[in-house]
Amino acid sequence: MENRQNEVTMDRPEAKKVIFSGVQPSGMLTIGNYLGSIKNWPALQDDYRCLYCVVDLHAITVRQEPAELRRRTYETLALYMAAGLDPERNILFVQSHVPAHAELAWVLNCYTMFGELSRMTQFKDKSRKYATNINAGLFTYPSLMAADILLYQTDLVPVGQDQMQHIELTRDVAVRFNQVYGETFRIPDGFVPKAGAKIMSLAEPEKKMSKSDSNKNASVYILDGRDEIVRKFKRAVTDSDTVVCRGENKGGINNLMTIYAAFTGKTDGEIEREFEGRGYGDFKLAVGETVADALAPVQERFRALMADKGYLESVMKDGSAKAFAMARKTLSKVYRKVGFTQPKV
Ligand code: TRP
Repeated sequence: MENRQNEVTMDRPEAKKVIFSGVQPSGMLTIGNYLGSIKNWPALQDDYRCLYCVVDLHAITVRQEPAELRRRTYETLALYMAAGLDPERNILFVQSHVPAHAELAWVLNCYTMFGELSRMTQFKDKSRKYATNINAGLFTYPSLMAADILLYQTDLVPVGQDQMQHIELTRDVAVRFNQVYGETFRIPDGFVPKAGAKIMSLAEPEKKMSKSDSNKNASVYILDGRDEIVRKFKRAVTDSDTVVCRGENKGGINNLMTIYAAFTGKTDGEIEREFEGRGYGDFKLAVGETVADALAPVQERFRALMADKGYLESVMKDGSAKAFAMARKTLSKVYRKVGFTQPKV
């Protein structure tokens, strides 16, 4: 979808379209997160200008243990790279290292309505989940996300379906700002990658697989060991049928077929033929082993990266310098437009 606003010539340091996405360093990523996001990103690195951010400012909208937040920030960056994102061809950085995110978020807060933020389903869900900590940051979370995106004149934002409402709000705020002050922000489009958009819990296949499920058998994490992965798939909840094929009331098998297809590239028909005359047990074992095999090289690269903090820090430093160089252009334009004075340094 093209936006009329974007046809207007805007500051574009390069011809490539810009992609921005972010992952919170607030828990271990599941195979659902992996299939729906970072696994797809390396394929974009040559055709687009890609920025991937570890959004630590967003993470503190719910209480975090400081040492754990710090560790997970490194881990998330290492996972980006372990999944195949080359820091030379993508801008990989940590949100709090580029102050322009917080600065633009403040400005955007003043152009985002209380009513709009009140309608965000993630805010409503999290308010229920963290009822004793409904802080202002949780409420204005979407303004910070809008700042992340708009700072880089982003064209495309790959996200999970649950984030599309935030993208819509980002577009509304950007359009509103542009209407008042003239072309300032490019209007971004969100897109939800097809593969792995919806990986369900292994224990309750009617629920989405979640990073924070209290049931240990529900979610498979990218960093789970081989035995653990195989065991979780063996225990996956299925149904009383015996034929490996999709069907209504076969949520568990449908989900396993989705996972197997995503990791092997096989079609449903190919999977059905492969397991014809074999039971669910064989199929579950095959899915578990396939997932474990696919994740093993990612895990190995992850461990090597985590053993070299100095290198990770140099990637962070380089990434935030590149991100800042892009972000400051937008921020100073915004400051000028709203009427802030900008002394020359
Ligand atoms: N809110 C997103 C999530 O929880 C993470 C995020 C923060 C993000 N800023 C972003 C995603 C900007 C895309 C673009 O998944």
